[in-house]
Amino acid sequence: MRLYNDNPTLDRHEQLGENRQGEALFFESAQTQANPTGKQFYIESYGCQMNFSDSEIVASILGEVGFRPTRNVEEADLILINTCSIREKAEETVRKRLRVFDQQKRQKPGTLVGVLGCMAERLKAKFVEEERLVDMVVGPDSYRDLPNLVATAEDGEKGINVFLSREETYADISPLRLDSNGVSAFISIMRGCDNMCSFCVVPFTRGRERSRDAFSILAEAQELFERGYREVTLLGQNVDSYKWTNPENAKLVNFAHLLEMVAQVSPLLRVRFSTSHPKDITNEVLETIGRYNNICKYIHLPVQSGNSRVLDLMNRTYDREWYMERIEAIRRIIPDCAVSSDIIAGFCSETEEEHQDTLSMIEFADYSMSYMFYYSERPGTLAARKYPDDISLEVKKRRLQEIIRLQNQVSYRHNQRDIGKVFEVLIEGDSKRSDQEFCGRNSQNKMMVFPKVEGFGPGMYIKVRATEASSATLRGEYVPEFKLVEA
Ligand code: 5AD
Ligand code: SF4
Repeated sequence: MRLYNDNPTLDRHEQLGENRQGEALFFESAQTQANPTGKQFYIESYGCQMNFSDSEIVASILGEVGFRPTRNVEEADLILINTCSIREKAEETVRKRLRVFDQQKRQKPGTLVGVLGCMAERLKAKFVEEERLVDMVVGPDSYRDLPNLVATAEDGEKGINVFLSREETYADISPLRLDSNGVSAFISIMRGCDNMCSFCVVPFTRGRERSRDAFSILAEAQELFERGYREVTLLGQNVDSYKWTNPENAKLVNFAHLLEMVAQVSPLLRVRFSTSHPKDITNEVLETIGRYNNICKYIHLPVQSGNSRVLDLMNRTYDREWYMERIEAIRRIIPDCAVSSDIIAGFCSETEEEHQDTLSMIEFADYSMSYMFYYSERPGTLAARKYPDDISLEVKKRRLQEIIRLQNQVSYRHNQRDIGKVFEVLIEGDSKRSDQEFCGRNSQNKMMVFPKVEGFGPGMYIKVRATEASSATLRGEYVPEFKLVEA
């Protein structure tokens, strides 16, 4: 067995938010699948990892009724767009894409267009009035109904289902891995959100929080491992509030237990998770992370603001001191852990001094990276109802720039400290720039790029010494694990 991170440090991630924009998803095994109807679907996803993960559930459901995926929108009989409502910009992007799909419909009459996800849920039937050429509007809890909705749309009616469920977790559906590198996969462990952050549309678009059957999660992780996957990311809006009661013995499984169960699938299976909430992340979770080499030393712990008054307005239910204490607990219990964050600039009534508190928090928490946004008022949210959106766009943008500039410096420093250290990297494939190089992440979620080594390939662990660092990537070189000693 290979050794695990013996010298880990800190990290970088490309997950939540709108970092993966509108990718056309595709699954390799699809070509070999039965395709009795001969029909093809094309799906594009926006927003968080949860949306990308949902698209894999959708692909599975459509596969069951004979639809095959295509990367080529022109070939598609069914065009789906899995949407995000988190900021106004995300919605604008989707509307632009719908214009393009409209053209497509005109060129190939009979093509159906469906809007899935958070925007479908937020706008409901209104979507069909606003975007006349949309044939289906399907909320995040209605994907099982897609085959019926497609049939309805084929009959010339609008297929609409935006029912939000208290139970749906799609636990029994085996997602079709879209555009997979065959090494890492997402596993959705819960849905919805019961936190009422005042800026956030998610509780309205994804409904109440519910946790998925722990054994179905475990079975999915096991199956992925057997198929050669070496990394799973457990996904939820707030993973720390995962709780599921085993109906057989009435035992409660919390997030720490779940992490441990998944970590025990194999020491060769890395476990990641996202997103954690500062009010809910417990020492029990931190201790579990510390105990298992294969639970990655990386926590995405969005702070949103570094100021207690603003945090109160945001209804985050923790203050600056609480957050700092959680950071200290992470350092104490998992000294080699990297932490990243989400930050909002220019929330309602935020003063310059309060903005400075956010800047100082970036320094204090020493984030390896952050997803940074300026506040975008969302209709229907608590903040939209209670607080005027009174910071001008100009000021919001300037504060955001200051946040980004500082975070870049902190990330750069963070990465510079890694130079000379040896990390265990899980190889994901060729680097973006060269087929002579591999890329993969270390436990801290930092992307490392290094020259290829014979005998190694995707899905294998390799020791890499960091030799150069930018604010985004570490470059390195292979370190043989065993030195041959000449006789
Ligand atoms: N405006 C700006 N950013 C937002 N986020 C959520 N809602 C808003 C909003 N209305 C950010 C938060 C969250 C991340 C996914 O998106 O930082 O953690
Ligand atoms: Fe994900 Fe939130 Fe966007 Fe919905 S609104 S896709 S939950 S980020």
